[in-house]
Amino acid sequence: RKYSKRMLWNEGNFQESMPKRKLNSHKGDHGRGLVIGGSTEMPGSIAMSVKAALKAGSGLITAATTEKVIQMIAPVSMESTFLALSEKNGYLANHTFPVDSYDAIAIGIGMGRYEETRDLVRYVLEQAKCPVIIDADGLYHIKSDLSMIKKRSDPTIVTPHPGEMAMLLDISVPELLKEPFRYAAEFAGKYNVYVVLKGKYTIITAPDGRQAVNTTGNPGLAKGGSGDVLTGISLAMAMQDQSIFEALCNACFIHGKSADLLVANEHSFYDLLASDVIKGITDVYRTFS
Ligand code: APR
Ligand code: MG
Repeated sequence: RKYSKRMLWNEGNFQESMPKRKLNSHKGDHGRGLVIGGSTEMPGSIAMSVKAALKAGSGLITAATTEKVIQMIAPVSMESTFLALSEKNGYLANHTFPVDSYDAIAIGIGMGRYEETRDLVRYVLEQAKCPVIIDADGLYHIKSDLSMIKKRSDPTIVTPHPGEMAMLLDISVPELLKEPFRYAAEFAGKYNVYVVLKGKYTIITAPDGRQAVNTTGNPGLAKGGSGDVLTGISLAMAMQDQSIFEALCNACFIHGKSADLLVANEHSFYDLLASDVIKGITDVYRTFS
């Protein structure tokens, strides 16, 4: 589908672009994804991304993290598989492993800013021949050497909140928020990446400069963990039969719509939790005809 250069992403766009499921499909058709992240300090974040990725429709999800984090999250991540990576002081360390058997990868969540973890990020960005989504501390790691993303030939997606985007651009948050469209488009073009600049009005930018603004979401999402849920949904969408631009717009749409339906029905801006947003994906998909 062709989209205009600047648009709002609404219910109609979601309904039209979301691929329908075939009745005879199997898990291989729905994507095999890898989530890399976590640390002893932040074990819950990767668990939420994994759960969100499965709930949003991935066929198979593997969580690559430290042995300790695996032991912590395995009881609540019953539907995923695990890959234990080397650790140092509770954080992921450099580790080479096959990354070619995945349809998409998400990296960065809860991994911390330990220097040795950066080598793992670099390895994955160099080796992975599939879409890679970089979030949270992964954004901090690429900042020291943005050629890590520029050199890639497969789709690369960054999902910063304004603080992270300002960090990547070496500007202040108020400066960024004066012209978020221009800054996002410049970064996307310069590094050949998709940018999901999160906020009340999340802006999705393609490397060619096309931009969409998501129309769902509410302040119930302003709570730790909602970003991790968005990353999981984005991973799932990137493995479905749609363009990366559509995948990212739909991920933001589903995330916000889940929160909107929950607040309209059983929840409020105050009590909404990221784990509720994962459960709420059910009702978003039930409105999807
Ligand atoms: N209206 C609509 N959507 C919102 C709103 C709002 N008022 N507030 C937040 N959101 C959405 C954003 O669009 C985004 O999708 O919630 C999500 C928040 O994502 P993040 O900012 O990445 O939050 P998260 O990672 O869960 O938690 C904050 O980021 O700054 C780091 O380390 C810090 O632990 C902290 C973490
Ligand atoms: Mg975040």
